[in-house]
Amino acid sequence: MATSKYSVLILLVLGFVLGMANGQGLKVGFYEETCPSVETVVKKTIDEVMAVAPSLGGPLLRMHFHDCFVRGCDGSVLLNSTQNSTAEKDAIPNLSLRGYQIIDRAKSAVEKECPGVVSCADIVALVARDVTVVLNGPSWEVETGRRDGRESIEFEALINLPAPSANISTLIQSWQQKGLSRKDLVVLSGSHTIGTSHCSSFNNRLYNFTGKGDTDPSLDSEYIVKLKQKCKPDDQTTLVEMDPGSFKTFDKSYYSLVIKRRGLFESDSALLNESKTRTYIKHQADHFKSSFFKDFGISMVKMGRIEVLTGSAGEIRKVCSRIN
Ligand code: HEM
Repeated sequence: MATSKYSVLILLVLGFVLGMANGQGLKVGFYEETCPSVETVVKKTIDEVMAVAPSLGGPLLRMHFHDCFVRGCDGSVLLNSTQNSTAEKDAIPNLSLRGYQIIDRAKSAVEKECPGVVSCADIVALVARDVTVVLNGPSWEVETGRRDGRESIEFEALINLPAPSANISTLIQSWQQKGLSRKDLVVLSGSHTIGTSHCSSFNNRLYNFTGKGDTDPSLDSEYIVKLKQKCKPDDQTTLVEMDPGSFKTFDKSYYSLVIKRRGLFESDSALLNESKTRTYIKHQADHFKSSFFKDFGISMVKMGRIEVLTGSAGEIRKVCSRIN
């Protein structure tokens, strides 16, 4: 009898822990009672920022991904390094992130309305949606109720964020580890319809693919010529539009690029190497009527649930760049 009570308790605790990991405790309108204006205030900040600096849309969308893939969506990407530890922010994949000051601006505006209530992790999630909408992309209902973490470790960013050189099996595995599917992978990669990349993120494909001064055969040769005009071999600073001509518009043209072998990263081209991801790309590229926008909202909500802290876990940071 005692043993069975004990097993029930273990099952309950396990269910609770797994539930948390799957986003239990999040809901649309979490701040309805405690901070009803939060979404309006964040949107106002983003509308103002995007009116003068639309190129911040890319990095602000990417920030939510980089937050969620490391320790879950807990705002850990926003924390500054301290004397004792180097934070995620200073890990190589995050050195090209921008827009932290915009998150701070949105947080200050929200704090004025309802101090100490809304987490930085939720602000990052709302901002990702709001910038997408400004760039003519889809809208979705953002679940809120995340709490902020107290830890941020450089090494964890290095092992959890996929490199642009990742192949399809590494990508699928990394997505699976976060409870995301191959469909989520190919859908969320569609974010590369907006924004820019440093030449250094793909230069190996142009100049030294296998260490013999060669090019990546999976990249369109005419495109290689164009990219070489922009990126010299050791270029660390130049920015290239990832979806040339429409990098400030969120649309489905990423899929037409990938099918033409013009995906900028190996991780983009790699999506053609697996049947499910390839089928999705072909479908989006070929069909005028596309499910991409709807799919994107669904996958973003899923991503936003990764390993979240809810209830009384973590804290509500006062300032997003440091713990209370
Ligand atoms: C599939 C694995 C992924 C890899 C390997 C990857 C890698 C990269 C790299 C290397 C850059 C360029 C950074 C630079 O050099 O400045 C970039 C940019 C970007 N990524 Fe990804 N990414 C992936 C998935 C995602 C996802 C899931 C999202 C969003 C949900 C996303 C959103 C973006 C955006 C919006 C940009 C443009 C940033 C800007 O304009 O500064 N990426 N990504």
